[in-house]
Amino acid sequence: MSHDSDYFYDKAKKQGYRSRASYKLLQIHEKFHIFKKNQEVVDLGASPGGWTQVASEKVGNNGLVIAIDKAYIPPLNLKNVDILQMDIMNETISEYLKERYGLIDVLLSDCAPNVSGKWSLDHSIQIMLAERAIKIAEDILKDEGWIVVKVFQGEQFANFVSYAKKVFTTVKLFKPQASRKRSAEIYLIANNKS
Ligand SMILES: C[S@@+](CC[C@H](N)C(=O)[O-])C[C@H]1O[C@@H](n2cnc3c(N)ncnc32)[C@H](O)[C@@H]1O
Repeated sequence: MSHDSDYFYDKAKKQGYRSRASYKLLQIHEKFHIFKKNQEVVDLGASPGGWTQVASEKVGNNGLVIAIDKAYIPPLNLKNVDILQMDIMNETISEYLKERYGLIDVLLSDCAPNVSGKWSLDHSIQIMLAERAIKIAEDILKDEGWIVVKVFQGEQFANFVSYAKKVFTTVKLFKPQASRKRSAEIYLIANNKS
């Protein structure tokens, strides 16, 4: 583990965040000002809950964070968080969310497959998850809403970015300092503001 990764791991432990990934979202917010008080946020691939904790703080008591993962998310005991154990590939997810929560302000996806070690397989699955997040955003995000999606850079990356540009007017790519330098991950941040 590099010095860099130890630093954010230790910091997360000290500050009570469930994962070092929390700092990636904090750094994304610092740059793009994604969150406002009282918003409704959907957090896809939320386990163990580091991003959910950050979003919960940012939207405040009158906001809501809907944390979704196919894996178990241990209870966070936060009043403004709903936890759902669901697979985002399930075709009925948008309909379910729209019916229960209406349109939302921010869609986050830090989804990643369990790494198999076969790079092209892992990359393909990760791109499929990222595309799925955009599809869900098309279904449930308010017109002026924001999306933040993890994506692995590889052979399908350019096509994915082109697809995002067809859906959103403003598309940015950002690698937070807390993201390990050797990791292929980068975050796509988009909305429909000019
Ligand atoms: C890098 S972790 C997320 C870390 C989280 N953002 C945090 O801050 O604690 C990626 C997550 O994506 C989830 N995931 C992968 N495929 C999924 C799917 N099809 N549906 C829902 N969650 C999925 C995994 O179960 C895993 O928990």
